[in-house]
Amino acid sequence: MTTQQAMQAVENIMIEVTKSDVKTLQDASRHILSAGGKRVRPRLVMLAYSALGGTDYIYAAPPAAAIELVHTASVVHDDINDHGVVRRGRPSVNAIWGRTFALLTGDFLFTKVYELMAPYKDLNIDLAEATVALVEGETLQAAAVKENNFTREIYHQIIERKTAALFKAAACIGAKLAHADQTIVEALGQYGYSIGLAFQIVDDILDLTADSAQLGKTSGIDLAQGRGYVAAYSHNGHQAAGVAEVVVEEADPMMSIKQRLLQGDAISEARMQARGLAQAAIAYLDVLPESQAKHELIELANMVVDRDH
Ligand code: IPE
Ligand code: IPE
Ligand code: MG
Ligand code: MG
Repeated sequence: MTTQQAMQAVENIMIEVTKSDVKTLQDASRHILSAGGKRVRPRLVMLAYSALGGTDYIYAAPPAAAIELVHTASVVHDDINDHGVVRRGRPSVNAIWGRTFALLTGDFLFTKVYELMAPYKDLNIDLAEATVALVEGETLQAAAVKENNFTREIYHQIIERKTAALFKAAACIGAKLAHADQTIVEALGQYGYSIGLAFQIVDDILDLTADSAQLGKTSGIDLAQGRGYVAAYSHNGHQAAGVAEVVVEEADPMMSIKQRLLQGDAISEARMQARGLAQAAIAYLDVLPESQAKHELIELANMVVDRDH
């Protein structure tokens, strides 16, 4: 099994499962799916499976596709909440079809996960727990912004749930599909969890440092909405990043706050944290025998922190 064959199987399943005679659901689902995306989570499932001796990619592809559908549904809904108008280099589903159909498209994608996961018994529990965590994380985030309480502690609770939980589930599910021992499943889970945290920290950095064209999604919205790594690390108990203070002084307060943040230490600290998490993730892979898949898992951890989009 090559990774490329496995990933092609995942693509085919996602297109097949989003067939519907309700044209809007099919069109909007395929709009977001065919735009691509990094496919990090299904790749993680397949690499964990392969690194533990799995060879039947036809068997492993449906849960990998299900995880990517959970993620895709979550970004469709996330763009409604965050007012994102660009996603994966295209207008977002809400930008084209509006909020109502974006909400329903996300529901459709989430619901298709049942169909794909039905034969996989207890793996449903891993995926359900991660999906619940994702919804909890997004909810904690919205609440922290609303209550102006976006502290470091809360930030870490948020990213654990909204992002790291699904990465952890992807790695555990891959290992369980290969019938790995419990200690190996746990080590792979720790690997997934650590790169998930790093992935979100880097996503938050890029929101501030990269533009929408480079990211293929609306950038600069975390700061505007008072969240993300930098908001948490400059939270002073009352307000994020001294917003009120700047508002009275500057013609373009957001630009001014951004300049200040780019000049400060928060971004290099964030990068260091992400780098440390990726190194810790790689150390968890010591339990694996040498293989091409193990090598690709190491590369994946490095890619998570080195990426520029
Ligand atoms: C975006 O995830 C949402 C986060 C958890 C940061 P990705 O960066 O994996 O999005 P795609 O799938 O590549 O578009
Ligand atoms: C991740 O957070 C959102 C999900 C878990 C869906 P972000 O809000 O940072 O994701 P992007 O930047 O819009 O992709
Ligand atoms: Mg968002
Ligand atoms: Mg983001």
